[in-house]
Amino acid sequence: MIREVLIDGDKRLLQISQEVTKGEFSSMGLLKLIRDMQDTMEFKHGIGISAVQVGVLKRIALIGYDQANPRYKEIGHCPLTVIINPTIEPVGSETCEYNEGCLSVPDIRGIVSRPKQIRYRFYNEHGELISGESADFFARVLQHEIDHMDGILFPMRINQEKL
Ligand code: NI
Repeated sequence: MIREVLIDGDKRLLQISQEVTKGEFSSMGLLKLIRDMQDTMEFKHGIGISAVQVGVLKRIALIGYDQANPRYKEIGHCPLTVIINPTIEPVGSETCEYNEGCLSVPDIRGIVSRPKQIRYRFYNEHGELISGESADFFARVLQHEIDHMDGILFPMRINQEKL
């Protein structure tokens, strides 16, 4: 089911989302929410979405993209990935810039600087731990989605000196 996407100005987007609890993994409610997030993201041609964007303040995101997406070019390929209760840490001090967009901030893009390489840990919808390192577009999107979970929208990270 496609859900309404909250738009910048909605105060829920500035709140901190809560962790998914052990008992919620594999539950009908969680699986239905993830399905709705997938439907909504695909309908909007997004490459990532966090639960808060459909009004659910839980630390859940989906990331998935390929070259066919009309909103993004040359980003490689990532199968649809469920991300729950993620934690990340930068690897090294290198940063990179990217012209970000967001389904909750329509018609605006902006250059955001973030750590290039990260180490990550998160759970899938069945509570299985997934960990790894990334220095590609996945690292960029994951940091953007975790920002959503912490009530941060990308314009809050735009380097003012470059405007
Ligand atoms: Ni976003």
